[in-house]
Amino acid sequence: MQKLRLTRRSWLAGSAGLAAAQPGSAKTIAVASNNGLGACARAVEMMRAGQDTLDAVIAGVNLVEEDPNDTSVGYGGLPNEEGVVELDACVMHGPTRRAGAVASIRNIKYPSRVAKLVMEQTDHILLAGEGALRFARAHGFEEENLLTERARLAWMLWKRSLRDGRGHNNWMPGMDAPDSGPAARLGDLFPQADEETLAWASDVVRHPPTGTINCLGLNAKGEISGCTTTSGLAWKIAGRVGDSPIIAAGLFVDQDVGGAGSTGRGEENIRVAGGHTVVEAMRQGRSPTEACLEALRRVARNYNHDEKKLARFDLSFYALRKDGVYGSASLWKESSAGQRRQFAVNDGGPSRHEPCAFLLEGRR
Ligand code: GLY
Repeated sequence: MQKLRLTRRSWLAGSAGLAAAQPGSAKTIAVASNNGLGACARAVEMMRAGQDTLDAVIAGVNLVEEDPNDTSVGYGGLPNEEGVVELDACVMHGPTRRAGAVASIRNIKYPSRVAKLVMEQTDHILLAGEGALRFARAHGFEEENLLTERARLAWMLWKRSLRDGRGHNNWMPGMDAPDSGPAARLGDLFPQADEETLAWASDVVRHPPTGTINCLGLNAKGEISGCTTTSGLAWKIAGRVGDSPIIAAGLFVDQDVGGAGSTGRGEENIRVAGGHTVVEAMRQGRSPTEACLEALRRVARNYNHDEKKLARFDLSFYALRKDGVYGSASLWKESSAGQRRQFAVNDGGPSRHEPCAFLLEGRR
């Protein structure tokens, strides 16, 4: 077992957002996961125009839900093991202290909007599966095929990568076929796919992503709301629900304190009720960044700080305090592809990325 290496350097790397606002001087600001530059810009624009904080963050994440190139959220998301895109989302509205969520919903491009309807138009908080879909249809949402050709290609490659105990896979050509790799033969099924798409597909087969977008918005009145939306873990068992629709895990907002959300491996987040843990740590006086690190320490503790096990996944938290101070931290400094983890911020100018603080360096 290896010990955590929480160095002074890693701690200092978490100072993002400290200069963003002085306590008591709330400003209009949005914080999101790495894929949320556009979401933050739209959310801030809407909040500055006087729109509600929840409407603003939902409009922000809608950009990603409808983007076929983000394969971890909404339309274009990678599917479950049966090739079906299943979406999870939740919302929390600080001023009214309400929440809504949907889990494992199919065929609906904007699950965040359905989550808001659950909050506003029902006496429940979380609807799942077929019931969530019927609820969405009842409110006028149209069903759409969310599986893009790009995502279907990746799913097909994943299916073709599986082997039984004899090294056999019925989804691959048989012994009589000319000998070549699964990616090459896949080109016959997807003649439009270029090398870059095939390389991307190989990567997501080897490292199933748990992307997601979380966006938190604060207006000048100090009102705060949040939204988290995702297509969840690629190749999951049908019906698997991650942290994103779970209030207190994928998102938590307390108007008295602030909000927090998460992206990454949902199973690990659920076990520490991460969103709630971050907000409670802020309530007790920790900075947003330190609060995110505290939740990650609990995740590491669940594996007795065994870095070999912890290296199999990543998890990031984002936090926005009621006074506008914000922060983010990831379990690992870098992604499995070696890219520095970062998050998105907009406080009135152009959206920007800032580096996440991190608990662990040197992923192996
Ligand atoms: N955080 C997204 C998921 O695990 O489904």
